[in-house]
Amino acid sequence: MKLVVADSYEDMSRKAADLFAALLEEQPTCVLGLATGTTPIGLYDCLVDDCKRGALSFADAQTFNLDEYRGLAPDHPQSYHYFMRTHLFDRVDIDLSRTHVPDGANPDGQAACDAYERAIEQAGGIDLQLLGLGHNGHVGFNEPADSFPVCTHSVTLTQSTIDANSRLFDSADEVPREAYTMGIGTIMKARKIVLVASGQGKAQIVHDAFFGPVTPQVPASVLQLHRDVTVVVDREAGSLCA
Ligand code: F6R
Repeated sequence: MKLVVADSYEDMSRKAADLFAALLEEQPTCVLGLATGTTPIGLYDCLVDDCKRGALSFADAQTFNLDEYRGLAPDHPQSYHYFMRTHLFDRVDIDLSRTHVPDGANPDGQAACDAYERAIEQAGGIDLQLLGLGHNGHVGFNEPADSFPVCTHSVTLTQSTIDANSRLFDSADEVPREAYTMGIGTIMKARKIVLVASGQGKAQIVHDAFFGPVTPQVPASVLQLHRDVTVVVDREAGSLCA
């Protein structure tokens, strides 16, 4: 694992975006794994800027997002589909038919998740996966558990994730209780992984995930076993990693 401590949120975003820009330049047909949440917004802004000034193109790339709420249609403002269109897809030259997000509108979780896992395999697997980090160590919607979930699957959100995500909804009651998410096995199959974390509030979990024991109680800790992970944090989030 490589740890990069950036000076600021902007610097973290630029440094992480550079890893995506480099891959898009070297391998224009690459398969990118993407994340939502607050942390990657600056990174997406950097990629949009690069694309606007002609320094990179998403035209031949494919993308697979980590997760989606069950029960939200793609055009629901709080869906992860909508988030991706707002922050990236509608602002770059990507072909929307080459973007993939789990089908939260499909009530049949097994079918939706199996189809998603198959689609990733048919695309040849993920070349570079972006991850954020939950305060409890979750990646995607893989919450602390007794084992690491392998494939894309349906999950019931924990109260702490509902509370954390309620900031984006009018009230906690509106946060969906279930989601579809890539499994830890799906994520670990990515050839490269970049995780971003920002702010003092993430300092403890960054330390525990990357310098503590590997345990499904801290799902991100499994990334210590991956052969090509870059963790890009700002100074605050990296403050407990001496
Ligand atoms: C988002 C996702 C989540 C977030 C995590 C951190 O697709 O899968 O695991 O990455 O909750 O979210 P932020 O960046 O908002 O702190």
